Amino acid sequence: MPISIENRLLAYRLTKPLQWPTSRIIAIPRPTSFVGPGAALRLCTMIGQSGATRVMIVTDAVLVKLGLVEPIRRKLAEAGIDVAVHDGITPDPTYPVLTAGHEAVRAHRSDAILAIGGGSVIDAAKVIDAMAVSGKTPQRLVGVMKVGKPMLPLFAIPTTAGTGSEVTVAAVVTDPVKHAKSAVIDPKLVPMATALDPTLMTGMPKPITAATGMDALTHAVEAYTNLWPHKETAWHAIAAVRMIFANLPRACEHPDDLEAREAMAVASFYAGLAFTKAYVGYVHAFSHKIGGMYGVPHGLGNAITLPYVLEFLQDQRWAQQRLADLAVAIGAGSASEAKSVLAARFIERVRELNRTVGIPEKIDALRTDDIAHIAEAAMIEAYRDYPVPKLMTLAQAEGLLRRMAA
Ligand SMILES: [Fe+2]
Repeated sequence: MPISIENRLLAYRLTKPLQWPTSRIIAIPRPTSFVGPGAALRLCTMIGQSGATRVMIVTDAVLVKLGLVEPIRRKLAEAGIDVAVHDGITPDPTYPVLTAGHEAVRAHRSDAILAIGGGSVIDAAKVIDAMAVSGKTPQRLVGVMKVGKPMLPLFAIPTTAGTGSEVTVAAVVTDPVKHAKSAVIDPKLVPMATALDPTLMTGMPKPITAATGMDALTHAVEAYTNLWPHKETAWHAIAAVRMIFANLPRACEHPDDLEAREAMAVASFYAGLAFTKAYVGYVHAFSHKIGGMYGVPHGLGNAITLPYVLEFLQDQRWAQQRLADLAVAIGAGSASEAKSVLAARFIERVRELNRTVGIPEKIDALRTDDIAHIAEAAMIEAYRDYPVPKLMTLAQAEGLLRRMAA
């Protein structure tokens, strides 16, 4: 007899606390970080000195066309490295896209990989690297700790500030037939080194700056409100939230503002550190399903969903306290005020930030006929994978989605 959805959710809920000790024991490496204007070229100098001889740059065609890749390729070549460029990565990389990347690495006999791009490119490079060393297909790498072998040295230069992929243990891959996203999770996926270089981010259009920045905010807020508190994670999350509120509107309005761009890159890195330990929550669970079904960009889906989920969480004691902390951290109130008032004010500030950077309040693509299916899939992901602070029933999940539909 098939297990009912309610019983599956209950089983996840009951076994969740057992994962807490595991999440603390597993050591997660942290990449060496080069930060500031020119950081990308300094990273190349380091790669040259590290002993790599054949480097594959994994990127996308748009970045090559914009001229962002050539100076980095030249710098590596000047260091005596045999460099090849694979620019076939598309947003939300699918299995065939990853297989083509793996073929390129194999043909070039690369001994290191440098990812230059947004979250999709860095995620793809992680999986291509894992495929190269393990000989496994992307489908077989989906899940936890499936890589099995040490990776080729992997380096990452993010050109957006949001996903935090340059620091995380995860890579999201897309099944092109089922329109479903799944994750490859392994501490081996963390790059050796990264360059947070604001000069590569000044050309990022406003909608992408806004959506990716709100993705970073979502990482920090979900990590901070989740149930498995950790001092260092809390510091990273709060620092990221403060930096994003202070710098995202500036980066959107003044694309050439290197200070704001650098702050956003560092905030996104910190948010990545926070959620790689403390996980994400309901917002990501909904957004993954909505992204897989309708192609809504990840950051945009998160940005729209975030205030709705926080409204649901705000009356739960732990979440309320954490949201109140965040309100105080961004200067939206004083610690002497009632927690419920502070929590509500933080949520209002998130809505305000969305409005300021041009994020809509509803998801146009969301069809009412799909709501029951999305709610069920999202709750399975949330209960199975994330230490969320409050139980959401299927009916509540459906209600939330209905409010989000245009
Ligand atoms: Fe995310």
